[in-house]
Amino acid sequence: MPRKIIIDTDPGQDDAIAILLALASPDELDVLGVTTVAGNIPLALTSRNARVVCELAGKPEVTIFAGCDKPMTRDLLTAEYIHGKTGLDGADLPEPAMPLQDKHGVDFIIDTLRAEPAGMVTLCTLGPMTNVGTAFHRAPDIVEKVAEVVIMGGAYFEVGNVTPAAEFNIYVDPEAADIVLKSGCSIVMQSLDITHKALILPSRLADFRSIGTPVGDAVAGWLDFFERYDMEKYGAEGGPLHDPTVIAYLLKPELFTGRHINVEIETQSQLTLGMTVADWWRVTDRKPNVTFMGTIDADGFYALLIERLARL
Ligand code: BDR
Ligand code: CA
Repeated sequence: MPRKIIIDTDPGQDDAIAILLALASPDELDVLGVTTVAGNIPLALTSRNARVVCELAGKPEVTIFAGCDKPMTRDLLTAEYIHGKTGLDGADLPEPAMPLQDKHGVDFIIDTLRAEPAGMVTLCTLGPMTNVGTAFHRAPDIVEKVAEVVIMGGAYFEVGNVTPAAEFNIYVDPEAADIVLKSGCSIVMQSLDITHKALILPSRLADFRSIGTPVGDAVAGWLDFFERYDMEKYGAEGGPLHDPTVIAYLLKPELFTGRHINVEIETQSQLTLGMTVADWWRVTDRKPNVTFMGTIDADGFYALLIERLARL
């Protein structure tokens, strides 16, 4: 039976590719719904973009729910400087016709978890964790229903991408991340330590282009646009690809290795706000709460992406 998932996202080119990967894998994954959140760009655009992506995948039946339009206690910080004005710059795609659902994304998360038996629904977070943090805060009874939360966020050895200490998704809403990490759920974290080992090299970009379908062309266009900022910033041969590592973990966990360790979120310090303080070397007696990935088989990851996206 396919694993039931909710994708919580702020698309974003890399979010878009993660959604495509999930929709291309119906034997393994049953996407119960997509909840959108403000992050890379404001909520109206992430909600539009999620619909653009589902239509590109030929799946207008996917239910999409707009969630929170700002972090739990802070002002929103966006990242148009990476993703472009629309959040999906790099490919020309039609305005979506499929509807947005009436229900709020947080209510969808709460209602879905309450309706399902415990251990059935996995939450995949690809943006700031505002929707999930709010749902856990408002309805603590759902926490024990969650099978697993698989997060793109944080960093330890790579430290920060938006500040010297913090990764974007955690930095935008550290209070939400803190709630999720302290919830007691089973948690997997795909941090920059992984994604910076999975670079969008020219040969990989060419592989996407050679798929030769509208999906392949859109993905190549997005990646080409999206990686420029990071290539210049890091002086690397290619930019990192973040969010699809969450879905790849569900499809092929053997692509990753990690450690079950304690990870906590800095919510107070101005200097290190949003830092994921990961006890990788197990130097404290703080209780392990996260499987924090440390290695990725990058070739295997890209092979999976190419093979699955070619199915759409
Ligand atoms: C994360 O931030 C966003 O820009 C990406 O979509 C990804 O989720 C990487 O730090
Ligand atoms: Ca994202």
